Amino acid sequence: MNELNKNNVAEQTSGGGLVFAANLSGVKREYVLKGETVYALRGVDLAVPKGDYVAIMGASGSGKSTMLNLLGCLDRPTSGKIWLGDDDITTLNDNKLSEIRASRIGFVFQSYNLIQQLTVIENIEVPLFYQGNMSLRSRKRCVELAKMVGLGERLNHRPTQLSGGQQQRVAIARSLVNDPYFILADEPTGNLDSKTTAEILDLLDHLSEQGRTIILVTHEDDVGARSKRIVRLRDGLVESDTRLRPI
Ligand SMILES: Nc1ncnc2c1ncn2[C@@H]1O[C@H](COP(=O)(O)OP(=O)(O)OP(=O)(O)O)[C@@H](O)[C@H]1O
Ligand SMILES: [Mg+2]
Repeated sequence: MNELNKNNVAEQTSGGGLVFAANLSGVKREYVLKGETVYALRGVDLAVPKGDYVAIMGASGSGKSTMLNLLGCLDRPTSGKIWLGDDDITTLNDNKLSEIRASRIGFVFQSYNLIQQLTVIENIEVPLFYQGNMSLRSRKRCVELAKMVGLGERLNHRPTQLSGGQQQRVAIARSLVNDPYFILADEPTGNLDSKTTAEILDLLDHLSEQGRTIILVTHEDDVGARSKRIVRLRDGLVESDTRLRPI
């Protein structure tokens, strides 16, 4: 791990025995578009200890989604290193990356991305299905997750029969099915009114209290303020990194 990163985080926490969910070192992502190079990330260092709850903020185009996609193994950096736990994911082939994505990362999107034909419980089960990992035990776990997000009475509803906040809660339950390294959420409250946003933030608080690692992107100051740490990006670089609460 990058020595600088390590020191940074040690300063921000009480130190000692930190386990890292993710670690980025010198991460660059460049896109070449019609002969022009776009520098989406220009050398990002960031260490995220297990149990942290990080809000990534910054202007449109500053590189937030690019960073989240890299953390989620949906994309590869042009250069630099990314560790998830002990794995340097920049050295892994596409199959291994898909495996990590399916088994260790929970995604939550602004637009929920639920499958309209499936019920609440079936949507929560989708990641297990992709892994060929369905069993009675896993069905039980999905029901428990549905209850945890307050949808125990809605197991057989379809997405169109749910409110936006309820749909996002299904997506959050789905993201937890594989007991992921971390939950990555890109503008999870972007489509929600303030009351429903508050419900989702309460749920994220609850997950954070359980020790889950959460990295979310948001434009909203009041959403960022609920996290434990705000990382601001500017033009593809970390502009500031402020701890609000201990891990
Ligand atoms: N596939 C791509 N091809 C070319 N350029 C891209 C691509 N994806 C992103 N970019 C560029 O990289 C930069 C960072 O984009 P990114 O989507 O990470 O920004 P963002 O901070 O998530 O913005 P927003 O708040 O609008 O979602 C932008 O200048 C964008 O135009
Ligand atoms: Mg974005």
